Amino acid sequence: MKILVTGGLGFIGSHVVVELQNEGYEVVIIDDLSNSSLDVLEGIEEITGKQPHFEKLDLRDRNLVQEFFREHTDIEGIIHFAASKAVGESVENPLLYYENNLNTLVYLLQEQLKLGKGNFIFSSSCTVYGQADEMPITEKASVKPAESPYGNTKQIGEEIIKDTCKVNATLKAIALRYFNPIGAHPSAKIGELPIGVPQNLVPFITQTALGIREQLSVFGDDYPTPDGTCIRDYIHVVDLAKAHVVALKRLVHRQNKKNYEVFNIGTGKGSSVLEVIKAFERVSGKPLNYRIVGRREGDVITAFASTKKANKKLGWKAESSLEEALKSAWDWENAMRK
Ligand code: UD1
Repeated sequence: MKILVTGGLGFIGSHVVVELQNEGYEVVIIDDLSNSSLDVLEGIEEITGKQPHFEKLDLRDRNLVQEFFREHTDIEGIIHFAASKAVGESVENPLLYYENNLNTLVYLLQEQLKLGKGNFIFSSSCTVYGQADEMPITEKASVKPAESPYGNTKQIGEEIIKDTCKVNATLKAIALRYFNPIGAHPSAKIGELPIGVPQNLVPFITQTALGIREQLSVFGDDYPTPDGTCIRDYIHVVDLAKAHVVALKRLVHRQNKKNYEVFNIGTGKGSSVLEVIKAFERVSGKPLNYRIVGRREGDVITAFASTKKANKKLGWKAESSLEEALKSAWDWENAMRK
C-alpha cells in the first residue's frame, strides 16, 4: 500500500517514514528541503534497509501538485507534515504561514478527492487548546483563540479538513494533536535538525551540554506550578511516529467511527522545565549550565494530555520514559557532531 508523506524528511516525518516502512508500507516522500536535508534519506535507508521514493516538490505550486498526483494515482493515504513551524517567524510573516500551511493543505485535499479515496492524517498540535482550563486536557476541551499565526494555521487546518469531510464521504481523516515531541530514533541515525538557534527546550539543552550554546535560559520560575517552571507533556518521537501508523490503520481498515476524528498524542504525564533539566543531567552525566530568566511571551503554564481516547480507540500508548527520550536526544546530538 502506497502512502504519501509530505515533509517526510523533517523531524517527525522521517520517524514516521521509518515506522511505515517497518510495517511494510511503500512510502513516497515529498519535501521542499526548506528545513530538512537529503542526508535523512540515507538515515532512513540505514535503519530500514529501504530507501523511500523521494520527490523534491514545493506544495505551494498547484500545477506541480496536480502533476504529481497524475503520476501517483495509486496513493492510498496521505500523512501531511509539510508546514512551517516557528512561532516567532509566523508572527513576523503571517502570510508566509497561511500560504505554506493552508494553501498546501487545500491543494492536497483537492487532489485526494479527485482520486476518490482518501485516508488523511493531519499533523496538529496541543497549541489549539491554549491554556486549557483543566488538566489533563481531553479532546473535548475547547479550542482557544490562537496565540500566533502558526497556532491559527493548525486550528484552521483542522476546520478545513472537518468541513471537507462533512460533505465528502470518500474522505476519512484524523487530526493528531501532538504535545511536545522530543528525542530521536534509538539508532541515532535520524533526529531533529534545528536550523540556527533552537527555540525548543530539548535541542537547546543538548546543544548547551555539548558547548555549542553557552547557557540555557529557563523562561520563568514564578509560574503557579510546584517548582515555578512551566509544565509540558514530552513525548518520544518514536512513540509519536507509531501513533501515526495506528491512526492510518484505523482509517484503512475502516475502524473509524466518524470520517473526521481528533486524538491527543502525548504521554499523559506533565514534567516541569527543571524536571527535564534534572532528568537530562542524570542520563547524560553532565551538569547543565542554566539560569532563570523572565517569562517567554505566549507560553502557557501547564499542558499535558489525557491519552484515554487514543488508548481506547487507537489501542496506542506512549511507551518510552522521559529519561529514554532525553537519552536518545543526547545520543543523536553526539552522533550528529561526529
Ligand atoms: C512550542 C510552541 C508550540 C509548538 C511546539 C512545537 C511556543 C510558545 N510554542 O511549544 O506552538 O507547537 O513548540 O514543538 O513557541 N523553555 C525554556 N528555555 C528555552 C526553551 C524553552 O525554559 O530555551 C521552556 C518553555 O518556556 C516551555 C518549555 O521549555 O515551558 C517547552 O518549550 P518548547 O520546547 O519551546 O515547547 P512549547 O513552548 O511547549
